[in-house]
Amino acid sequence: MTTSVKEGRLLSGSSEDALTVCVLDDEPGMVEMLQESLRCLGFGSIGTCDPQYALQMIDQGRVRVVMSDIKMPGMDGLQFLEQALHHDPGVYVILMTAFYSLDNAIAAIKRGAYDYIPKPVDRSRLKKSLEELAESFHRRKRIRTLDQQLLTDLEFHGVVGRSPAMLEVFEMVRKIARHYTNVLLIGATGTGKELVAKSIHQMSSVAQQRFAVCNCSAMVDTLLESQLFGHMRGSFTGATDTRPGLFEYANGGAVFLDEVGETSLPMQAKLLRVIQNREIQRVGSPEVRHVDVRLIAATNRDLRAEVLAGRFREDLFYRLSTIQIRVPSLSERLDDIPLLVQFFLKKYNQAYSKQIQGLTRRTQAVLLQHSWPGNVRELENVISCACLTSVNEFIDVDDLPENLQKPSSQSGHPQDSWRPIPLNEVRRQHIRRVLEMCKGNRVRAAQLLGIGRTSLYRFLKRSGKKPADPAAM
Ligand SMILES: Nc1ncnc2c1ncn2[C@@H]1O[C@H](COP(=O)(O)OP(=O)(O)OP(=O)(O)O)[C@@H](O)[C@H]1O
Ligand SMILES: [Mg+2]
Repeated sequence: MTTSVKEGRLLSGSSEDALTVCVLDDEPGMVEMLQESLRCLGFGSIGTCDPQYALQMIDQGRVRVVMSDIKMPGMDGLQFLEQALHHDPGVYVILMTAFYSLDNAIAAIKRGAYDYIPKPVDRSRLKKSLEELAESFHRRKRIRTLDQQLLTDLEFHGVVGRSPAMLEVFEMVRKIARHYTNVLLIGATGTGKELVAKSIHQMSSVAQQRFAVCNCSAMVDTLLESQLFGHMRGSFTGATDTRPGLFEYANGGAVFLDEVGETSLPMQAKLLRVIQNREIQRVGSPEVRHVDVRLIAATNRDLRAEVLAGRFREDLFYRLSTIQIRVPSLSERLDDIPLLVQFFLKKYNQAYSKQIQGLTRRTQAVLLQHSWPGNVRELENVISCACLTSVNEFIDVDDLPENLQKPSSQSGHPQDSWRPIPLNEVRRQHIRRVLEMCKGNRVRAAQLLGIGRTSLYRFLKRSGKKPADPAAM
């Protein structure tokens, strides 16, 4: 049968509130009839006899509800349900059958069906089911709006976070911003140190003054020195004019020294002089100038270890670290992920003129399982790419980079993928990997795990796997 699309009267409010239902049945007459019922009930519909077409509609995000017959040649309703949930775990499937029994209904719902209704379909029964569903969509939409509001409330001077670890960072920033002269920010790459530095400046009493940023790892010493302290004309080849450095430029405000752990020992001596005496000298000039700047330094290195290794001056370390703020890794604050995702979606929807609403449930789950070695920067890249490439209303797993789609292929660096997970989960993952390695041979797996076969069977049973199923776990 050729697919037909019938737009129904809208159930409530604007067109974006309308629910479009895909009707899947092997009998074209039945499809027509159900579409007519849906039209009378106020729902738009797409009718088809082809399960693959219905799956395509789900993939394209054109429908979030499918009414499917159970008895169909090729792919039956339960197989369709499984496929549909595999394509998008957020889809709602209503199964219809001429052979209704309560047991089958419960079994279908346990397998993920939203509802299970007898044929011929009673219009008021269908109405109730779809209206409940529409109500739940509207509720979720309202929650999304509230979340947007929350996002505004939980943005701390451009830094998004709601996790206890980030709230602690905000609290610390609030406490020190008015009083600091030097602060050291420590944290892995991409955790948001620069953003936190900006928020410190914004909350300080010199917020109206300049905030100058210098990435200490991006330049050779001579260039870095001239960038920070300025130079006199003719002081080195290429110095065609006299220029003030960043410390002078930001006089009265703040200088952010990113990657301070990468500086050489001679440069550290010069920085120490700024910190101790607030004094600088332009390259090639004997004149000592006084600057009134606040200093925020950041590093992703363990500076204490660098001191022990003789690569970082101990006196500079102590001077810098009187106030230390540790910006936690993203894996330590997974509860920030949904909020950050929303924040980046908003940002990239605007940048790319898109209208992406969110992520499918399985995509959300994938993000929460990833170890995020690149922290928030990595998450931002993932969302920005997905936003650019996704053609649907909701970002799905296919829109994510490959290393996230296949988590097992990223286990090359154990310390990178580390994240705090419950011991039971570690045990479960480890057993599963050993079993995979032994191709399901449980005797061999038990030997490698150093446990008895019965213990392994007991564990598998407890985690709901049949001992006889070699692919279980
Ligand atoms: N909490 C956050 N809220 C919103 N955006 C964030 C947050 N943390 C980081 N970002 C974004 O992630 C990216 C990386 O952040 P930032 O440059 O501040 O990290 P960093 O710790 O300084 O990294 P590096 O050590 O590599 O210099 C930036 O685009 C920043 O806007
Ligand atoms: Mg940085």
